[in-house]
This record gives sequence, structure tokens and C-alpha cells, in this order.
Amino acid sequence: TIAVLDFGSQYTQVIARRIRECEVYSKIYHYTTSAEELKKDGVVGVILSGGPSSVFAKDAPMPDKAVFELGVPVLGICYGLQLMGKMLGGKVAKSKEREFGHGTLSITKPGRLFRKLPRKLRVWNSHGDKVTELPPGFAPIGTTDNSPFAVIEDRKRDFYGIQFHPEVFHTERGVDVIRNYLLNVCGAAQDWTTKDYIDHAVEEIRKTVGKSRVILGLSGGVDSSVAAALIHKAIGKQLTCVFVDNGLLRKGEREAVEKLYGDHFHIDLRVVDASKLFLRRLKGVEEPEQKRKIIGNTFVNVFEKSLKTIGHAKFLAQGTLYPDVIESVAIGNNPAALIKSHHNVGGLPERMKLKLLEPLRELFKDEVRAVGAELGLPREVVWRQPFPGPGLGVRVLGEITKAKLDVLKEADAILMEEMKTTEWYWKVWQSFCVFLPVKSVGVIGDERNYSWVIAVRVVESIDAMTADWTRLPYDLLQRISNRITNEVRDVSRVVLDISSKPPATIEWE
Ligand code: XMP
Repeated sequence: TIAVLDFGSQYTQVIARRIRECEVYSKIYHYTTSAEELKKDGVVGVILSGGPSSVFAKDAPMPDKAVFELGVPVLGICYGLQLMGKMLGGKVAKSKEREFGHGTLSITKPGRLFRKLPRKLRVWNSHGDKVTELPPGFAPIGTTDNSPFAVIEDRKRDFYGIQFHPEVFHTERGVDVIRNYLLNVCGAAQDWTTKDYIDHAVEEIRKTVGKSRVILGLSGGVDSSVAAALIHKAIGKQLTCVFVDNGLLRKGEREAVEKLYGDHFHIDLRVVDASKLFLRRLKGVEEPEQKRKIIGNTFVNVFEKSLKTIGHAKFLAQGTLYPDVIESVAIGNNPAALIKSHHNVGGLPERMKLKLLEPLRELFKDEVRAVGAELGLPREVVWRQPFPGPGLGVRVLGEITKAKLDVLKEADAILMEEMKTTEWYWKVWQSFCVFLPVKSVGVIGDERNYSWVIAVRVVESIDAMTADWTRLPYDLLQRISNRITNEVRDVSRVVLDISSKPPATIEWE
């Protein structure tokens, strides 16, 4: 085990993630964990995370001093380095300004930590204080413009300190620095794979849940699907999944969910058809935010009602991922991460007295996909494009009616089919149709055809914060347009959305 002592850095989970990338097992510990406990866990190396505090603060978080006497390598990152400076007899200076952003690291002595790495690397800094005098036994092995002690080592004791953040994406070859530490310095075993992660998670879930019942709201999206498959592997029939058909789903979506989770995985799946209720409540409503609110509230009502028919449950499972919780790490002197969940549906866990079960909360999206694939979920699910919670409700502009929804579903199914057969579906962020409540004149044979307009929206994006429209080949666009106007009744025209985000958004409402 590699122990990551958490001093409240927003990057602690990123460190753990990098270690997993190197196929090494690690565990995050609260910074107060005693050296004895680490020893009991068979720790072969320690990493002291960064953190928002200054080592000069009155109640600055400090690790057990005996951690430095365990006889295993210690790597201090940022605040961790300053802790080493302070606790091992060096000097740390307070600085008023933070050094933040890119810098160039020059390696003067590669040693085991920078073995086979370039002598110059672009690195990412984010720190206030800095070490001004090294503790006994230490020597600098890397410098930046701002610091002669950007990387320090005590070869004898295998202690290393790094001022920048090797774990973040902005640091060039950062993961290789971490890998060198794990393999060359700590001699950690490379035996931690997705399959091991699953076995470990399964054990944890069983321990947490015991004989209780777990409820999960299945949306068909990647996160809830992987959570369902994982929990099902752990506790089988103790898991009940609820899938709410709100009438705003894509064509064939409900059937696909029934087939996969019910028929294939034999999960206890309850499908609640509430489409009539949703449509009734949405009648006459045109304003997008109001539509969202109604859809959200109705979902909570339906879900809550369905729980009453299931019998006593103790846990509500959610597919919360690490990026969902990352933003609320406490700043200031309290290193305990305050975590709030975005997925909490309308205060339901509190009202229903349900405990949360979030087995994916340490994982990043690509890791969740790997877990899903390992659990046997098909590519359609694991690599599914994002789909908004309110579904087609925000893709039928203005008032939603069953007739409009039916037109949109047919057009959208054609787009999806063409995107999948040409493999474009997997290359883009999202591809979908939007129903425009506009009529335009067309002609079929000799007849005038006055009917609806469908917009095609296909975008590329990394994180949905910005997006650009995808340059699909003209012949593919032509086929999509031909098929929609020919095969879908009441559509006279197809238009292509060529707006990027910003200033537009991905969805139209
Ligand atoms: P926008 O339209 O804001 O969308 O550029 C960014 C991403 O978020 C999705 N989206 C939603 N997801 N509930 C959701 O769960 C919503 O109300 C919602 N609105 C937008 C959208 O599909 C895109 O991926």
C-alpha cells in the first residue's frame, strides 16, 4: 500500500488517481493517522499531499512525527514539502503572494525520481510559503526560477520533497515522476487493475450494506448504469433499480434498459411509466426553466411514490463521481473535505431517511467507463453520449405535446442510427435533434406540405463548458436530411446548427 496523507488539497484524489494509473494500490488517510496504523496496513511508501494551509498557521495540520521513522520513503508535495522542511529541521519562509501557474523545472541530479526524464520540464505551481533552508541530510536536485529548492532529496532516508504539483495534468511528465517514486523509490508492486478495484469495491459495498435493501434510480446514463452493475455484483437481489419513464426519453430507450438490466443482468428492475403524468403537468408550459422545474419535481414525486411499494430500504445508491464532489473541498484551515452531493434528488435521502451509497465517488469518468466495461456493460452504455436529465423536454422548444415528441423521437432515431453506422457517434460529444415549433412550406409530389422544422445539433467538447459544432461530411448530412424529411411525417425541413458554445449553449433551452 502507498499511503496518501490528506492535508485537504483539492488534488488529493488526483494523486490517488495517478497512482491507480500506475497500477499500484493506494489508500487515502486522514492526515492525523498514526504511524502505527500505517505500519499495520503494510505501507511501503508515504505521500504527503498539498493543502490550503500555511505551516505557520496556528492550527496547521501536522502528521504524526513518527511517520518519518517508519523506515519507508516519504514524498512531500507542495504543503507536504513545507511540512518536511519544518518538521525535519529546515527553515520555511512565509510569503505573501502565491506562486501560481506554469514554471520551468531544471533537474540538476535526476536520481531515481527523475530517471529517464528530460532535464527540463514544464511544471505547475500553486503555493505560498517556501523552503529557504534545507533540513539536515537533504540536497536540492531540481530548481525553478523562483526556488532553488523546487525538488529536494535525502538519499539516505529516501525522503523527497517537490514544490510543484506532479499530479496535475498541466505538469509535463508528472505521472512519470510519480511512477518513478512508486516503482524506483518505494518498490511498490504493480498489481492493481480495474478488476482488483472492482473486487475491492464489491467487498466494501457488502460490508457497508450488510443485509439491507438498496434502491437506485437508474437513468440509463453511464454513471448510474455502472453503479447499478457494480452494486448488483456485490449484493444481487438486495438491489432494486427504479427506472422512471417520463415520456421524454429517446425512441427505444426504455426497452433497451429493460432488456439489459432486466433480461441480461437479472436485476430487480421496476419500470414506472409516468409519461402521462409528466405530459399532463407540462401542458401549456413554455418557459424552459419552468419546464425543468416541473420535470425535476415530478421525477421526485414519482420516485418517492415508487419507493413505498418496494418495502423498507436503508440505502439510496447514486452514481456520484469524483468530479461531482471536487468543487466543495474546504478551504482555510480545515483539511477535512466537505463533500456535498449534486445528485441528491430533491432532499429525498433526508426525507426518506435513506443513507447514501456512492461506490464511484473516488473515480473519474474514464475510470468509471473502464469499470463498466470490465463488468460487461456494452459499448452503447459505457460510451454513451451525455443526455440531459429533462430529456427531450428541453429539445421540444416551447410547449411539449405528445405529437411533437413523437416527431422528434423519429427524427432523432434516424440521426442516431446514421451517427452509429458511420461511427461518428463515438467521436463527438453529443448529437441530437431539436424540434422547432415553426412551420415551413415544402412540397411532396405535387402537394404543398406545410409542416415542422427539425434542427440537427452535433458538437465536440471536452467538458461541456465550451463546444464547437462538428464538421460532419456533407454526404452524411445529406443522408440524415433526406431520411428525416422522407421518413418522418410532418417534417418539411432539416436545418443544421452551426453555433459554438459560447455564445450559444449545447442544448437549445
Ligand atoms: P448546455 O446546454 O448548458 O449543456 O451547454 C451542457 C451540458 O449539460 C447538459 N444539460 C443538462 N443536463 N440537466 C442535465 O442533467 C439539465 O437540465 C441539462 N441542461 C443541459 C447538456 O446536454 C450538455 O451535455
